[in-house]
Amino acid sequence: MSEIFTIAQLSDPHLSSLANVKMKDLLSKRVLGYLSWRLNRRAKYRPEILADLVEDIKFQQPDHIVITGDLTHIGLPQEFQEVKDWLDALGAPAKVTIIPGNHDMYVETDWESTFALWYSYMSSDIAEVFRSCVRQSCFPSLRIRNSIAFIGLSTARPSAPFLAVGSIGPSQLQALERVLVEMGERRLFRIILLHHPPIFGTVPWRKRLIDHASFRSVVERCGAELVLHGHAHCTSIREMVTKNHVIPVIGVPAASARSQHPNRGAQYNLYRIIRQASTWSIQFSVRGYSHAEKRFIGFGAPVEIEQAVKFRVKELP
Ligand SMILES: [Fe+2]
Repeated sequence: MSEIFTIAQLSDPHLSSLANVKMKDLLSKRVLGYLSWRLNRRAKYRPEILADLVEDIKFQQPDHIVITGDLTHIGLPQEFQEVKDWLDALGAPAKVTIIPGNHDMYVETDWESTFALWYSYMSSDIAEVFRSCVRQSCFPSLRIRNSIAFIGLSTARPSAPFLAVGSIGPSQLQALERVLVEMGERRLFRIILLHHPPIFGTVPWRKRLIDHASFRSVVERCGAELVLHGHAHCTSIREMVTKNHVIPVIGVPAASARSQHPNRGAQYNLYRIIRQASTWSIQFSVRGYSHAEKRFIGFGAPVEIEQAVKFRVKELP
């Protein structure tokens, strides 16, 4: 008897428009982000491509959708509202889980006019465990769907001009350890969501996850079944090999990117998590935007069973 749960992962949609931004909102690092949007990013991240991606995801009917950060450009309140409207059209908060990216916390910002608008898509199921939600303290988030535990981290933090670093921080790491152990004891399939790639070298130094080594230590001790990230804006399929675990670490290009490059154009990933007797396995496939067909299509064959075996990550007793 097998149990199958399908997850769609998209990332870095950068879906907001800065067309009507007021100059008074740009008196900070945001002016650099605004200039980047005017000169480059608004041509690169296209709402019509993102709309096609959403249509394709809905046709695929995944059980859950995860978005691994960077929904905005410079984290303005008006962008958060724009994203909130888009999320409401995408799906119910119970079926959509998001975490923030560095662009969503471009500078220090007021929680109530920004992240509070996304709360229903970020919040944990277990309110008594994760009671307070003030800035990053609602992370790690925990959402359980069937046998899947979605564990969300925030790596978003303001950084100096021309840097896009992230960090998890000691308090989140401490809580992550507890959640991984508890969910492992319940034999759930633990998926860690974070914006910055946790494997050093996946992105340039100026975009790195500062405390990647601490994250690795926690995962080494506690295990996890899958790690999903964004930020790199390209396809990235790697593994975190520890003494007791081989954990797939997978990133996806920006969901709205107009690019002919096979690894940098708009894509999303589908993961079929299969529980069969005492074994978990993952089969994943990539759907990407075809400029020739002007729609999303399957990129390559879905990962076959033999390859899925490579991603068998946990033998249950
Ligand atoms: Fe990012």
